[in-house]
Amino acid sequence: SGTADFVVIANRLPVDRVTAPNGETLWRTSPGGLVTALEPVMKSNGGAWIGWHGAADEKVKPFDHNGMHLVPVPLTESEVEEYYEGFSNATLWPLYHDVVAPPEFHREWWDAYVRVNRRFAEKAAEVANEGAVVWVQDYQLQLVPTMLRELRPDLRIGFFLHIPFPPTELFQQLPWRREILEGLLGADLVGFQMPGAAQNFVRLVRQRVGHKTHRDMIYLPDGRTVLAKAYPISIDAAGFEELARTPEVIARAAEIRESLGNPKTILLGIDRLDYTKGLRQRLRAFGELIADGSVHVDDAVFVQVATPSRERVQQYKLLRDDINRLVGRINGDVGRIGQQPVTYLHASYPRQEMAALYRAADVMVVTPLRDGMNLVAKEYVACRYDDQGALVLSEFAGAASELKSAYQVNPHDINGMKSMMLAAINAGPRENGRRMKAMRKQVMENDIELWASNFLEELTSDRELHEKNP
Ligand code: G6P
Repeated sequence: SGTADFVVIANRLPVDRVTAPNGETLWRTSPGGLVTALEPVMKSNGGAWIGWHGAADEKVKPFDHNGMHLVPVPLTESEVEEYYEGFSNATLWPLYHDVVAPPEFHREWWDAYVRVNRRFAEKAAEVANEGAVVWVQDYQLQLVPTMLRELRPDLRIGFFLHIPFPPTELFQQLPWRREILEGLLGADLVGFQMPGAAQNFVRLVRQRVGHKTHRDMIYLPDGRTVLAKAYPISIDAAGFEELARTPEVIARAAEIRESLGNPKTILLGIDRLDYTKGLRQRLRAFGELIADGSVHVDDAVFVQVATPSRERVQQYKLLRDDINRLVGRINGDVGRIGQQPVTYLHASYPRQEMAALYRAADVMVVTPLRDGMNLVAKEYVACRYDDQGALVLSEFAGAASELKSAYQVNPHDINGMKSMMLAAINAGPRENGRRMKAMRKQVMENDIELWASNFLEELTSDRELHEKNP
């Protein structure tokens, strides 16, 4: 029937469309870690990737790119509004991130989510060979596993959730909670970032769907079993280190420091402009450190890169205005002529520029209110082959359970965050070296390749042992 023995399904294709100087449109592999990890597996298995190509009301034919077969899924303008901006990013995103913004529940959004999930499942059913392995990614596609299994019971289906899975009390708010749980149960293996998330899922399945469970196993009435486990995601750690070691990046890092007026301390934040990231809290804490004299305005600069994201969603518009105001206020209140304490950049940069920023930053500040993992924290560590630099990290990021030697903070506690930031600013090279070495060991040994192979090994393993009912 199909053409591929390995199929990845994600909301987005792993390519960006770019226009060449001669006006030609080209596809360029996007910088994400997921495609870096899966590309080799795809190439050696005749793999296909099914995803949206990023534009509304446009059909694009399947095409080959870098040894991968890419299958674009079209979305109409109203599906972009209801499935992507609506249900995915104004219902599920805030709900799964501890409702740090209020989730909106709209029945039309749900209908579009069901419709689009079915379209992804149907595409996969066409593309997959008999007995193929299919890996479904993330919260936009939670109904795909069961929809696909109904079409193609011969497939091995895995699902991975890149964002947190909420505590059961929050998940219960969702009017379609049972449908989502049943959608996920079409997978043989459901992966989460954290063990607690997997436990939340298993408990909900037991309580709301009524299936028997034992530890990380779920027993379905038809005899099938579903395994729910944690696979903390990582980055292409060696790739980042290699990039950070290039002469271009080293030179650029020096140039950045120079442009900022050679301050004693550069603090850095790099995030998508998202209300889960704790931007407000970290900027307030930094502003207060300058205002109360703990840090002298000549000595420190905070560089905040905020990558534009989901710009038509109301909560993101509000956040953008909010951060603009806050940055203006801090610079207005505590700045001097030629001394802007906060350099704010609302833009996205290539990986090379990010690596230079990481190299230039004395203190990396990563303070999400809730985050599935947070790969920026790991990228910073991977770039610091000099064993220097300090990481301030929210305890509400998944990465906190791996990066124990970071300066961990509760981003809601502004005073606590101020004193941790100050400690990081004032730490000497010995202290930084001790902490960074420990974090580097963790990050360099657990890269994204290991993550992908751990998941795929479990997904394709013979599950005879588990399949007996306890
Ligand atoms: C998070 C999600 C991804 C998503 C990415 C960018 O990392 O887990 O699924 O692709 O954000 O967001 P966007 O809405 O632009 O795809």
